[in-house]
Amino acid sequence: MELKGKVALITGASSGIGEGVAKSLAAKGVKVGLAARGIEKLRTIEQEIKQNGGDAFSVKMDVADKASVHTGIQELLEHYNGVDILINNAGIMPASDIDSFKIDEWDSMVNVNINGVLNVTAAVLPQMIEKRSGHIINLSSIAGRKLFKGLAVYCASKHFVAAFSDIMRMEIGKKHNIRVTSIQPGAVETNLYDQISDKTYKQGMEDLRDQMTFLTPTDIANSMIYALESPDYLDVSELFILPTDQEW
Ligand SMILES: NC(=O)c1ccc[n+]([C@@H]2O[C@H](COP(=O)([O-])OP(=O)(O)OC[C@H]3O[C@@H](n4cnc5c(N)ncnc54)[C@H](OP(=O)(O)O)[C@@H]3O)[C@@H](O)[C@H]2O)c1
Repeated sequence: MELKGKVALITGASSGIGEGVAKSLAAKGVKVGLAARGIEKLRTIEQEIKQNGGDAFSVKMDVADKASVHTGIQELLEHYNGVDILINNAGIMPASDIDSFKIDEWDSMVNVNINGVLNVTAAVLPQMIEKRSGHIINLSSIAGRKLFKGLAVYCASKHFVAAFSDIMRMEIGKKHNIRVTSIQPGAVETNLYDQISDKTYKQGMEDLRDQMTFLTPTDIANSMIYALESPDYLDVSELFILPTDQEW
């Protein structure tokens, strides 16, 4: 796909991977729709992209809330008149053991990491089907193919994303000419660990920085650009991307 002039919606664009992807795609001439709950952060990123000659538009969106998704997508479609690329990136990872019964955190992970992907996909896909073109990229994780103690609900949510992506590829690839890619990164330098309320798991995650060179959001953006720029007959269905010195 030639990227210049295309429109992308990136959820979770206010931080980390989403922010990095938004900046990298904007530098390629993509018009980027930035979505997250933190509208002020989005507007700052939007300004930076515009100052660098790019085109960006911010929408406040809670992916877990269908009404908020509907309103945000309407605003974006009115501004850009269509979405060619959807990047389902918003996600949270509050690690803890099951017998800590952090049930509110389980609910939040299901609502953002699973329902969020479903809500945004359902809102964006119809207009891709109508024009018989589009590319959906979903953020799974190494936790979408391997299992880790303390990450039961997170791993389940990222396995969901991987399974949902591949079945979506089977159902809409040939039928509607829409490509689907699932990306499964290892450790990336972002704010993902900030919401971990369990002190032991939070420290364990922070300590990973001493064991390996974390990937950057730009590394993940570059892998997405590879998938997006591949010829239309080629669907990069999965990408598993790890730090070279990650031993597991
Ligand atoms: N970092 C890693 O090592 C790593 C590895 C593999 C996969 N991933 C995946 O990569 C994705 C991005 O994570 P990150 O590492 O970049 O973390 P991050 O820096 O914490 O960014 C998470 C983003 O998700 C947004 N978000 C959270 N809840 C939301 C909601 N209800 N509605 C809309 N947006 C919401 C946040 O914005 P607001 O708070 O402003 O809404 C933020 O922009 C996640 O799906 C994560 O599971 C990360």
